[in-house]
Amino acid sequence: MVKPDGVQRGLVGEVISRFEAKGLKFVAAKLELLPEERVVEQYREHLEKPFFPGLKRYIMSGPCFLMVWEGKGAVAVVRTMIGATNPAEAAPGSIRGDFGLDIGRNVVHASDSPRSADREIGIHFTPTELVEYSKIDEPVLYE
Ligand code: RTP
Ligand code: MG
Repeated sequence: MVKPDGVQRGLVGEVISRFEAKGLKFVAAKLELLPEERVVEQYREHLEKPFFPGLKRYIMSGPCFLMVWEGKGAVAVVRTMIGATNPAEAAPGSIRGDFGLDIGRNVVHASDSPRSADREIGIHFTPTELVEYSKIDEPVLYE
């Protein structure tokens, strides 16, 4: 998901380009102002944290661009590509390392395990929004 700061800064295309170039398969996408219930559901592990009220305000401050990507090891690969939570410490070459400065404005979110990916896809997408197709580069992308 590209968070509101990333959308406002015009980074949606950059984020999509990186995942496409990596070889991941684009399965779903939409631009949305997230309702409170879905923000709370997505970040329920952080409900009691001191940063939660600010996090919720930030995520609801403007549209988010939500995506589903598939591929070999996609969850771990995407987490590596987005970089550490704090953009000031994220490695150069990662999305947060290249495009952010502040932990409270870190441009993107990505699920941290296949289990949370399933859960978060269920929060944000209906089954018909997930597009089933085969991608013609698969025979050259995978051994
Ligand atoms: P995300 O869930 O958004 O992909 O980020 P993450 O796994 O790298 O980090 P997580 O620990 O899940 O934190 C969720 C989001 O909360 C904000 N945060 N602010 N001010 C703070 O100390 C603080 N800590 C976390 C960030 O926006 C972080 O991405
Ligand atoms: Mg997280």
